[in-house]
Amino acid sequence: MSAGEINSVAVIGAGNMGHQISLCCALAGLETSCTDVSEEQLQEAEAFMEKYLSGRVAKGKLLPESADQAAKRLRFTTSLEEAVREADFVIEAITEKLDLKKDLFRKLDQLCPPQTILATNSSFFVSSLLAGETNRPELVCNMHFFNPALVMKCVEVVKGPHTAAETAEAAMELARRMGKEPVLLHKEIYGFLVNRILRQIIDEALFLLDTGVASMEDIDSAVVNALGHPMGPFTLMDLTGIDLSYHSAMERYRETGDPGDKPSPTVVEKYVKGEWGRKKGRGFYNYEK
Ligand code: 3HC
Repeated sequence: MSAGEINSVAVIGAGNMGHQISLCCALAGLETSCTDVSEEQLQEAEAFMEKYLSGRVAKGKLLPESADQAAKRLRFTTSLEEAVREADFVIEAITEKLDLKKDLFRKLDQLCPPQTILATNSSFFVSSLLAGETNRPELVCNMHFFNPALVMKCVEVVKGPHTAAETAEAAMELARRMGKEPVLLHKEIYGFLVNRILRQIIDEALFLLDTGVASMEDIDSAVVNALGHPMGPFTLMDLTGIDLSYHSAMERYRETGDPGDKPSPTVVEKYVKGEWGRKKGRGFYNYEK
């Protein structure tokens, strides 16, 4: 399927990433369905949509009629079948658990029309781990958005050995239709492009904290004020989720067996305590207030 033929998108998962990706699609004029197994998560996503769209109108960044149209284009449903049965393009953004993703791709292959492209927004699982679960590996790729997806312009499209060139191009073009600046990775690599670079910064920040060289506030402040990053590494981990930092390091460690790839003791401690960042009200910083 070429990008021009894509009129409808289904986003699977209404969590940290999915709720904003689905809104990006609706704002780009695409008929969008957003589905999640949790009714509560969908209600939160719908409430966010209403607040976000009215906020954009109030700020003068969106015409009221454009906000109305986007809201009408975005449907929320707990039924996977209903969400995907007419979708031209699917973006999977569920929990980062490989078994769950494999199971979902098997179901998607059954439920979607045969020409539908299946993309995963996973931060670290390459799509070749999922393509084999389907009868359409040439239509499977990675399409990785950044948090907050409504703001961050970059989208990484990763072409696996199974991915047809037209599929990768359709994902690139779809991202452009959302106003993004997509980048294409010609081969699969753990962490893709951005998270490989980000990981070096985060590992170094954790090393400096764990060895008592500086406080996290000062490390964050230095990265913002010396390097011009919009936020420091600890604030950023609170935004993206410390559970994600933990799982991505564990996945890397499982792959390499190198103890150096294990999550840092600080990340493990936060993970075990359930202090996963903003979404839990507490991470490196406290958001409960
Ligand atoms: N959702 C939607 N929009 C948001 C938002 C959110 N959570 N937070 C901020 N915004 C919008 C605001 O509405 C505002 O829009 P406007 O300028 O059009 O009116 C704009 O972003 C700027 O917001 P603020 O002035 O309130 O705040 P900041 O200027 O501090 O920007 C930020 C907030 C955009 C989050 C900025 O701090 C930033 O870019 N931080 C870095 C984020 C980053 O690095 N993301 C990548 C993480 S890595 C990743 O995602 C990998 C993946 O695998 C997890």
